[in-house]
Amino acid sequence: MTPDQTALVLATADAAFVGGHFATRFYDRLFASAPDLRILFGTDLTALKLKFMNTLASLVGSVQHPVIFGSILMHLGRQHRRFGVLPAYYGPVGEALLATLQDILGERWTPAVAAAWTALYAEMTERMQEGARGE
Ligand code: HEM
Repeated sequence: MTPDQTALVLATADAAFVGGHFATRFYDRLFASAPDLRILFGTDLTALKLKFMNTLASLVGSVQHPVIFGSILMHLGRQHRRFGVLPAYYGPVGEALLATLQDILGERWTPAVAAAWTALYAEMTERMQEGARGE
């Protein structure tokens, strides 16, 4: 990510996460577009939604601290391998995440903001998969 992209993620994250609807919209969208993935998750998503938002907020908050950012993701990647998450699943999850951001940010979702969050998710995917491979 470029410094400008980091700044754009930091400038839009609050507006995206405020209100407490992000996780619900994200999982609704994910299971609508990739119903096959639903079986990997438990029936009650309440606790997961909180954990997901806490982790996402920690990641955004540590985006300028590569060691912390990387270690959260390596751990998350190892954990996700145990959840049965395969590399191919990162695509649909990324699409649902970006579409949710677009939905909530509305006019603030400019091409530059889209590119910044896309770059962030690409980095997250790379580090999680590295963690999953046990490197
Ligand atoms: C944006 C990147 C991601 C973040 C921040 C994230 C975050 C999390 C967190 C915090 C948990 C809870 C872990 C715990 O119980 O301690 C979790 C669980 C899980 N995640 Fe992710 N995740 C991401 C990507 C993915 C992807 C790509 C998949 C693929 C389908 C996935 C599937 C799952 C599953 C199946 C669980 C377990 C759910 C359950 O126990 O019911 N996640 N995720």
